[in-house]
Amino acid sequence: MSKISLSSAIGSSLTPSPTLYINERVKALWAAGETVYHLGFGEARFPVHPKMAQALAENAHQNSYLPGPGIPELRQAASSYYAQKLGIELTPAQVMVGPGSKALLYALLMVLDGDVILPTPSWVSYAPQARLLHKEVLRIPSTPADFHRLTSEGLARTLAQSAQGQHILVLNSPNNPSGQMLPADLLAELAEVCRATNTLVISDELYGLIPHAQPHRSMAEFYPEGTIVLSGLSKHLSLGGWRLGVALLPPGEDGARLLAAANKIGSEIWSCAPGPVQYAALTAYSGDAEIEAYIAECSHLHAVRTRYLWQGLNELDVPSAEPQGGFYVYPNFDGRRAALAAKKVHTSDDLARHLLDEWQIATLPGSVFGAPPEELSLRLAASYVDMETEEKAQAILAWKRAGIDDETLMSDHAPMMNRSLIQFQRFLQSL
Ligand SMILES: Cc1ncc(COP(=O)(O)O)c(C=O)c1O
Repeated sequence: MSKISLSSAIGSSLTPSPTLYINERVKALWAAGETVYHLGFGEARFPVHPKMAQALAENAHQNSYLPGPGIPELRQAASSYYAQKLGIELTPAQVMVGPGSKALLYALLMVLDGDVILPTPSWVSYAPQARLLHKEVLRIPSTPADFHRLTSEGLARTLAQSAQGQHILVLNSPNNPSGQMLPADLLAELAEVCRATNTLVISDELYGLIPHAQPHRSMAEFYPEGTIVLSGLSKHLSLGGWRLGVALLPPGEDGARLLAAANKIGSEIWSCAPGPVQYAALTAYSGDAEIEAYIAECSHLHAVRTRYLWQGLNELDVPSAEPQGGFYVYPNFDGRRAALAAKKVHTSDDLARHLLDEWQIATLPGSVFGAPPEELSLRLAASYVDMETEEKAQAILAWKRAGIDDETLMSDHAPMMNRSLIQFQRFLQSL
């Protein structure tokens, strides 16, 4: 019998992050020589921009512990950068730097009082983080019939069921898993509800620099006094493993108190974001024309690839909302429920398992995004297939730079994406 006793918070209510689990399972299948169409892993895969790689190399000697909220010059650079990108007013004092937005989110949830309100679906780590902190989680229900549209009425109804006092609403636009962006009129309505109900917003805008057609709008534009924006380098610069996130806090006394409290957590857990990465991030936030052009180039390719996947599924009569930002689509298979039941597929977990086991398609089930288990929704990521290696990602950029049009890029240079759509077609024909 084991002598090690684990805390109850780590017990049955938490499983390892499902995104990492799927990735590990896919790796095991690959190691066994199997083909897998990996639509499960939402990692941005474009190469590290040469200027970023150079900035990191030049700062490899930065081996000191740094100030908890970030080096002053990075807080300054990030505040100017996001003020311009998001169309909001910001000062360096409002910027907190940390080892990824995920760690910053955890510190913020730890220091903020109140129930956590989550739209459905929402990113996989919000609810587990809240549960680790023994916080109540209330979900705003949604339906695939209108592509899970969030409304201010839905928010108000859920808030009415929450305990008295402050509430924490976590928004995410562009959205993981749905690819949707919250439009200006809805942000304005949500801000009004939040103001009237003592609701703070943590606005996860990590994909904000990967818009497809319409510009990204920040909740901080509509509710500056009550919004904390999360961002970082992970997605638009494909630097997830560098671990550099930022939180943009409200102005004035409230923001200062929040920063001091979150910094207490940071100082006891991670001390500071990695030194060389902080110095390299100065280049990312400098507004350098080449880096900005690279962000635009990668965003365009994410949009083309994501829209191709969405369009391909639409042609197979699998509906999902038209993606607007980031690199995800969130199709729903409720229309095939009876045929799927004959194959013992009753939940989104069953469906994801069936697709991986029988059709070599890796996805994530809607259940891990908070969807009811029997809703047959899946999250597909367009960011990984055909970019499994650095060489393949470089090749996509090279074809684009050689002047290939988007249509040819997808028809001739996206073999795994095209084969995964054929697998989907075969799967649907098998029903
Ligand atoms: C919606 C969303 N928020 C936050 C994160 C965490 O990002 P990071 O900690 O790299 O900033 C991710 C990563 O996949 C994400 O998809």
